[in-house]
Amino acid sequence: KKITIAIDGFSSCGKSTMAKDLAKEIGYIYVDTGAMYRSVTLYALRHNLFNADGTIREKELQEQMKNINISFQLNKDTGRPDTYLNGENVENDIRTMEVSSHVSPIATLAFVRKALVEQQQRMGAEKGIVMDGRDIGTVVFPHAELKIFVTASAEVRAQRRYDELKTKGMEADFSDILKNVQERDYIDSHRETSPLRKADDAIELDNSHLTIAEQKKWLYDQYCK
Ligand code: C5P
Repeated sequence: KKITIAIDGFSSCGKSTMAKDLAKEIGYIYVDTGAMYRSVTLYALRHNLFNADGTIREKELQEQMKNINISFQLNKDTGRPDTYLNGENVENDIRTMEVSSHVSPIATLAFVRKALVEQQQRMGAEKGIVMDGRDIGTVVFPHAELKIFVTASAEVRAQRRYDELKTKGMEADFSDILKNVQERDYIDSHRETSPLRKADDAIELDNSHLTIAEQKKWLYDQYCK
């Protein structure tokens, strides 16, 4: 019998790698909700919806939400879903430092969260889904059969993001990344609308000292229980 698996945690803690691998192994759909908040952010950057001081032109963004269409399509080479914004593959464009440094303020906006949460709930209407984010176990699927909350030290997480960007041949500076990870942790866990927190019934995993293979096995074991 298929279930819903909710994986939440801090920025760059490796949840998406775990979640993608598990989904592939057990034949479930994988949804990266961070990619959706990043896509709205990319749209806002491209349409000049940020003021020079970094604040968001909220009213304009709210009016344009109906023009923002986010979807996922399996990439045959990587075997993983790529993110599409209005039909364009933006999988790499949404991972830049520019997007990373603007996404958390976008994710504080209640109308953005409402629109994305509704889409996420539609995507997960049928069981057999692994979804990762910040509010999946608390807000999107409070009745998920399996909930995981992942943590790791900020330094370990920054190093992982650094390695990931380098592997993709993208620009990366370790201290900038560490600062960004810490800023997002703060904004994500202090915002008014669905702040990042562990659901009461989530199982916590601190993966600071685990290899990818060990995390994968740990998650698979939780699924089998
Ligand atoms: O997971 P990722 O680091 O790509 O997410 C980018 C940002 O999107 C987070 O820092 C957070 O501000 C926001 N986010 C969120 N709720 C989610 C997923 C992501 O607020 N479910």
